Order: sequence, then structure tokens, then C-alpha cells
Amino acid sequence: MTGRELYDLAVAASERAYAPYSRFLVGAAVRARDGRVFEGVNVENAAYPLGVCAEKSAIVAAVGAGYGPGDLEAIGVTASPCGGCRQWLHEFRVERVTYRDSAGELVTTTPAELLPDTFEL
Ligand code: THU
Repeated sequence: MTGRELYDLAVAASERAYAPYSRFLVGAAVRARDGRVFEGVNVENAAYPLGVCAEKSAIVAAVGAGYGPGDLEAIGVTASPCGGCRQWLHEFRVERVTYRDSAGELVTTTPAELLPDTFEL
């Protein structure tokens, strides 16, 4: 499955986002090495900081199904990943990230490009 196909799944998922406060609907689709795909959407809350991003909810779905760091090959996201999600992508060692950048281009990159010089515990 190509980055473009993951991105297209993310776009379809974004229609299920719960974002009544920002009205910024985000979808994500993460593919595991064995081919399984997990989708996620952003889910907001009236207590604003409690909301979760689409990338995090996709990764949470994968982890709940038994996948962990190193098992997730690629992710497609409808937005440029926020700083916190970049840290999550790094943590789970997702190899490739496809998203539409601020210029409107579909780009595929790596967590290291998105978040250089990450700390290690
Ligand atoms: N959002 C995501 O779901 N992923 C990102 O990487 C960027 C931001 C969501 C969070 C919030 O619900 C809305 O977009 C506006 O920030």
C-alpha cells in the first residue's frame, strides 16, 4: 500500500472526526508490517486540552490490537503532524509519514526529518 493510498484512507476517516470546537477534521491511517491498517480521527472535548489527535488515536488503536514500536511501517495523515504527534511517530518508529504540507503538496518523509535531535531516556 502506497503513501498515497494511506493518505486516501486518512481522508475518508477524517469524515468521522469529532471536532465541533475547531471544526478542523483530521484523519490518519497507520499500516503495520503485516498489512493491517488502523484508522484514527481527532476527538475533541469541551475541556479543550483533553482532545486527542488523529495520529494518536490511530496508533492507540494499533497498540490496543497488539502492535508496538517497530511494528508500524507507514502512516498517512490529512494534516501536518503537530509537535506532540511527531514525538509519538518517533516513539513508535513509524518509518514513513505521508501528509499534505502547508503548500498543498503530498509529501512523504520520516519522523527524524519531522523531529530532529530527539532525546533518548
Ligand atoms: N490535530 C490532529 O488531529 N493532528 C495533528 O497533528 C494536528 C492537530 C487536531 C487536534 C485538534 O482537534 C484540531 O486538529 C485542531 O488543532
